[in-house]
Amino acid sequence: MKSSIWNFWASRYDRLWVQKYSLKPTRNYILNALSENKDVNNIKVLDLGCGTGQLISEMAEFFSSPIITGVDFSEKMLDISKSRNPGAVHMQLNADELDKLKGNFDVIICSHSFPYYKSPEKVLHELNRLLKNDGILLMAFASGNNVYDKFALSFVKLTTGHAYYPSDRVFREIVSPYFHVADLQIIKEKFFMPRIALYKLKGATK
Ligand SMILES: C[S@@+](CC[C@H](N)C(=O)[O-])C[C@H]1O[C@@H](n2cnc3c(N)ncnc32)[C@H](O)[C@@H]1O
Repeated sequence: MKSSIWNFWASRYDRLWVQKYSLKPTRNYILNALSENKDVNNIKVLDLGCGTGQLISEMAEFFSSPIITGVDFSEKMLDISKSRNPGAVHMQLNADELDKLKGNFDVIICSHSFPYYKSPEKVLHELNRLLKNDGILLMAFASGNNVYDKFALSFVKLTTGHAYYPSDRVFREIVSPYFHVADLQIIKEKFFMPRIALYKLKGATK
């Protein structure tokens, strides 16, 4: 998928109505899931598909002296994140080219970005490489788990272009060579919203 659709959304992103029912609740769940790491100093965090950097700024307040890297392939999304988070490292990179990224992260977050990757298995392979042995990967995405979710998500696709929203069963199959599922939380703020799955993953080979 091209970054142009995300460049289009960048200046509008923080005002989208899904912020209230989907994106903000997801960020709250992620921060809650991170609470056991809260007192760690200088924690190294990667936010893959960081968008306008809302979560980066919330994490910067949450942790003490975090070292946060935000990666996104949309130049315009990154521009907003850079001005919001001058203390974070930013890289414009396609997730399908993560082999170009070096690092050893305590926490990797991928929130509402995974469904848009062309080569999800390749991304998971690289995320496994980039994660420390005792690190955690938090992956959140709208999940096409039942007929209603698939129906609702077909409207989302109209705004994002090609996307694949895996069901729980399919996602577990895709991740199993690289990660095991340590925890799963379901976020569903309103009955009309598709369910959002937040997976806490640990390296399968670590
Ligand atoms: C729905 S937004 C999510 C932004 C933020 N993580 C959040 O939760 O609000 C999806 C983000 O993923 C980025 N993205 C989509 N496909 C990508 C890819 N192949 N490589 C890197 N970033 C990608 C988009 O540019 C966009 O910023």
